[in-house]
Amino acid sequence: MRLLDREQLIEILQAQPVFELIGRVADEQGVECYVVGGFVRDLFLERPSKDIDVVCVGSGIELAKGVAKSLGRGARVSVFKNFGTAQVKKGPVELEFVGARRESYSHDSRKPIVEDGTLEDDQQRRDFTINAMAICLNAARFGELVDPFDGVWDMQDRLIATPLDPDVTFSDDPLRMMRCIRFATQLNFEIEPETFEALERNRERIKIISGERIIDELQKIMSSDSPARGFELLFQCGLLELIFPELYALHGVETMNGRAHKDNFWHTLEVLTNVVKKGGDIWLRWAALLHDIGKPKSKRWDPQLGWTFHNHNYIGEKMVPQIFRRLKLPMDERMKYVQKLVSLHMRPIVIADEEVTDSAVRRLLFEAGDDIDNLMLLCEADITSKNEVRKQRFLDNFRLVREKLVDLEERDRIRNFQPPVSGEEIMERFHLQPCREVGVLKTAVKDAILDGVIPNEHEAALQFVIDKAHKMGLC
Ligand code: CTP
Repeated sequence: MRLLDREQLIEILQAQPVFELIGRVADEQGVECYVVGGFVRDLFLERPSKDIDVVCVGSGIELAKGVAKSLGRGARVSVFKNFGTAQVKKGPVELEFVGARRESYSHDSRKPIVEDGTLEDDQQRRDFTINAMAICLNAARFGELVDPFDGVWDMQDRLIATPLDPDVTFSDDPLRMMRCIRFATQLNFEIEPETFEALERNRERIKIISGERIIDELQKIMSSDSPARGFELLFQCGLLELIFPELYALHGVETMNGRAHKDNFWHTLEVLTNVVKKGGDIWLRWAALLHDIGKPKSKRWDPQLGWTFHNHNYIGEKMVPQIFRRLKLPMDERMKYVQKLVSLHMRPIVIADEEVTDSAVRRLLFEAGDDIDNLMLLCEADITSKNEVRKQRFLDNFRLVREKLVDLEERDRIRNFQPPVSGEEIMERFHLQPCREVGVLKTAVKDAILDGVIPNEHEAALQFVIDKAHKMGLC
C-alpha cells in the first residue's frame, strides 16, 4: 500500500473533475459529502476500482439529482426510493449516492431498520475498517481523510478487522463473513484474531444468506491469486462445512493396520494451487477443486490392497451437476466441461503408470477432444507425491503421453473424431432400417481406428465394415 497525505489525495481526486463537481453541488445544497468505502480503500492499495460510492449527511437522492443536472446532457439518474439511494451514470462514470444512515437489524433477517445518521454512524455500520474510510468532497475540506477506525493502520498491518464488535457486524449481515474471507484472500491480509473468533461463533448465521450471494463471494475467492488460502480459511472457521459439505467431507485420515490414506482435502488444495500456478482459468480451477469429490463415497478398506477409491471419478462425475445446481453455478457447457475433466482425470495417470500404448492414447484423445490440453494440465497438477522418484517417473511418462498425443494427432486426426463411415452410409449399403446392428458396426469401426487396426480413412473403414457385416450375416 502507499501512504497518502491530504495534498496527494487532493491531486488524485482533482484528476477526475467529477469529485470537485460533487463537492460544489453539496456546498450549494448545504450538505456534507464524502467519497467512501471500496473506492477509498483501493486508492491506498493502488487497485483499480469501478464503483464510486458517495455518502452525504442529508438526502442522497437530492444530491444525486443535483449532480446529474450539473453533469448536463447524457447524465441519467435512477432513484431507489425504498433504499434511499440513487445512481448517476454518464458515459463510463458511475456514481452511487446515499444519505448517511444508522441501521439496526432484527435477528432473523438481513433487512435493516434504517434512520438518518451522522457520518460516523454510517462508517461504523460498514463491514471492515478498511472499507469504512471517507474522504471529504466539500470545497473547504476537500481531500480530508476521515478514518475513525484506523483503516489506514490496518492496511499497513495487512489486517481485516470490523469497526464494531465483530459479533455485531457479522450478525447484522452474515454475508460479511464470506466477504471477510474473500478480502483476506484477494488482498493477502490476515484476519484479526477477535474477528476470526467471531467468524467461528457466528458461522451458523450464514444460513439466512441466499446461495446467489454466497457463490458470488466464492467465485471471487476462486478468481484470486491464491484460492486455496480462501478455502483453508473457510475450513478453519467452520463455514466450509455449512456451505460446501462435499468438499469438507474430503478432510481426514483413517488408519487401518498401520496404513493411512492421504488427507484428500489438503491434497485437493495443493492441486488447486498447482493449477493456478499453471495459469488455469476459473473452470479448470473448479475441476481441480472437484476432481476427487467422489472419494469419500468410494472409500473402502481392502485387506490385500489397503485403502481403495475405486470409481471415484465416476461418482464425482455424477456429483458435479448436483453440486453446481446447489451452489447456483451455471448448469451449461461450463458444468459439462468440469464434469468431463472430473470423469477423465484418472486416465492419463493410468496410462502413464503402465506402458504408454498408441491405442490408449488415441482413446484418451477421442474422449477428451479439445479439452485434452487442460486435462493433461490437471493431471500433472494432481501429482503431489512427496516421493521424488515416483513423482519424476510420472512426469516423465506424462511427457511421453504428450509426445504421443502430438504424434497421433498429426497422423490420425483423432481429436473431434468423426467416424469416416457414417450410420446413414451403413444403412444404405446394407439396406437396413435404424437397428442394433448399425450401432454394432459403427462401434466396431470406431474401435478398429482407435486401436490402430485400420487407418482413419474412408476406404479402409468401408472395407472393414463390409468384412464385419459379412461375418454378421448381413450380406
Ligand atoms: N458494505 C458493507 N457490508 C456489506 C457490503 C458492503 O458494509 N455486506 C459496504 C462497505 O463499506 C463497502 C461498500 O459498502 O466498501 C461497497 O460495497 P461493495 O461495492 O459490495 O464492495 P467494495 O468494498 O467496493 O469491494 P468489491 O467491489 O471488491 O466488492
